[in-house]
Amino acid sequence: MNRTSPIGVIDSGIGGFSVAKKVQELLPWEDILYFGDGANTPYGNHDANTILAMTRYMLGFMRQNEVKLLLVACNTISCLMDSYRDEMDCPVLSVVEAGAQAAANLTGEKIGVVSTCFTHQTGCYPKAIHTIAPQKQVFSKGCANLAHLVETYLGREDGKPMIQAEVQADLEEFAVQNPVDCCVLGCTHFPLVREEIDHLFPHLMLLDPAEEMVATAHKYLQERGEERDHTHIGQMKIMTTGDVEEYAAKAKQVGLINIISVDAWPPMQKKW
Ligand code: DGL
Repeated sequence: MNRTSPIGVIDSGIGGFSVAKKVQELLPWEDILYFGDGANTPYGNHDANTILAMTRYMLGFMRQNEVKLLLVACNTISCLMDSYRDEMDCPVLSVVEAGAQAAANLTGEKIGVVSTCFTHQTGCYPKAIHTIAPQKQVFSKGCANLAHLVETYLGREDGKPMIQAEVQADLEEFAVQNPVDCCVLGCTHFPLVREEIDHLFPHLMLLDPAEEMVATAHKYLQERGEERDHTHIGQMKIMTTGDVEEYAAKAKQVGLINIISVDAWPPMQKKW
């Protein structure tokens, strides 16, 4: 790998598009190699061993393609990072660590976190935030269906009412019953429906960890002398075990640009 190698981005599905978009905004000279495990999404409803097996499958792909930095753009997978961080030859960044850092930097003391049920059950957000800022009050909430609904219905008229109802049910607590100073979007699928969230809860301050994550990525690349020449126009390749046409359409819809290919990759042979 070298400075012209791509930045790898992995997620169980299209959620990592919200992080890839931030890479394109803040580091437009970098190439991106994206892997979305559409055949197995959502990960948040599997157990830890299954999630680890599926994650290692994606890591293998990224190792083969010699990415210079790996962004784990899935909170569910990031919660298990201690088990696999050392398995890559490049730096590996966790979206949970980025989200916790960004939340710890806020002036507000009361933080809400909405995530998949798996992320919620591991308690990884409260732990990570308290490691940096022990004085913060952190309330975590698992959302059983929102990631799946976003993955399936993003941009589809017939899915709008379901997404709105789910957003209403999942975020009302932090906007109304137990108002927080800021709510962390602790699942990368959620920023993809930020408009809907803002519309329903205009006064709820939201935190998308992607910006902190990409800022950290930039620092790593600068420190290692691995930044791409700024005159280069970054390109994006997408690989998925899911539906290629759907991924291509959704990538465009969320505003990703310079996509040079969207290809299929065989899903991991199921061992569960
Ligand atoms: N995008 C993933 C995350 O950030 C959630 C989807 C899933 O559970 O697969 O946690």
